[in-house]
Amino acid sequence: MSAQLLDGKIMAAELEEQLKNRVEALKEKGLTPGLTVILVGDDPASQTYVSNKEKACARLGIHSDTLRMPPETTQEQLEAEILRANADPAIHGILVQLPLPRHLDSDRALSLILPEKDVDGFHDINAGRLSRGMDCVVACTPKGALHMLKTAGIPIAGKEAVVIGRSNIVGKPMALLLLQENATVTVCHSRTADLAEHTRRADILVAAIGKPRFVTADMVKEGAAVIDVGINRVDGKLCGDVDFDAVKEKAAYITPVPGGVGKMTIAMLMDNTVSAAEKAL
Ligand code: GUN
Repeated sequence: MSAQLLDGKIMAAELEEQLKNRVEALKEKGLTPGLTVILVGDDPASQTYVSNKEKACARLGIHSDTLRMPPETTQEQLEAEILRANADPAIHGILVQLPLPRHLDSDRALSLILPEKDVDGFHDINAGRLSRGMDCVVACTPKGALHMLKTAGIPIAGKEAVVIGRSNIVGKPMALLLLQENATVTVCHSRTADLAEHTRRADILVAAIGKPRFVTADMVKEGAAVIDVGINRVDGKLCGDVDFDAVKEKAAYITPVPGGVGKMTIAMLMDNTVSAAEKAL
């Protein structure tokens, strides 16, 4: 069997069409959604992500304001910029690109963003509300991954879902979203004993490890839906955390890298920004 591709390019384009209408409706009421992205340092992957976010804003007519700060930026300087964006009525969303340089305290910085402007869903309040099943801003990557499963009509309730990775950005919120959809959820990580024993039970397998082609075909159940969150660079080429060529012969659904979850992350960031602007109105 060759898996059906869950195409992030197509799904993100559909979402963007809807978002354009919502932005237009806001503009007719005199409000342009605004996003501030704060990028500290010169990590090349972060530069690419931030530039993709700027391009998405431009496509949708969202005002975007990127603050590029030098690697030696102090905690105080970073926090001053967050407070400035908090107070700016033209800004509805604030995103601090991670990872920050090691001398900076990202938890402290993220907790300063007003929860209603926290379009990443990383603030303690949004993360806490998600864990309680309350209305909140949901982190973009897991939100995008869930959207792909739902758009493809993949059943979630009652299914075995296995998430590899327990990061605050992807693994934990992904597990909570799948739980909310009534899946039976297992979270695996670097200390999990016999990882493959867990992954082979998964009807839905989410790989968010950060190791190129880590998930091999023998770790995947026949007919599974495989969501690859990884973005790794090997010999100058992008690849995911899943051995795509082998796993696609076993899975029923699979996301490609590039052109999979990454495209959805950006679309969901735009969605969260437009939603924040709608709420502000
Ligand atoms: N670094 C990698 N992914 C993300 C993300 O979704 N948001 C932010 N702010 N930084 C990231």
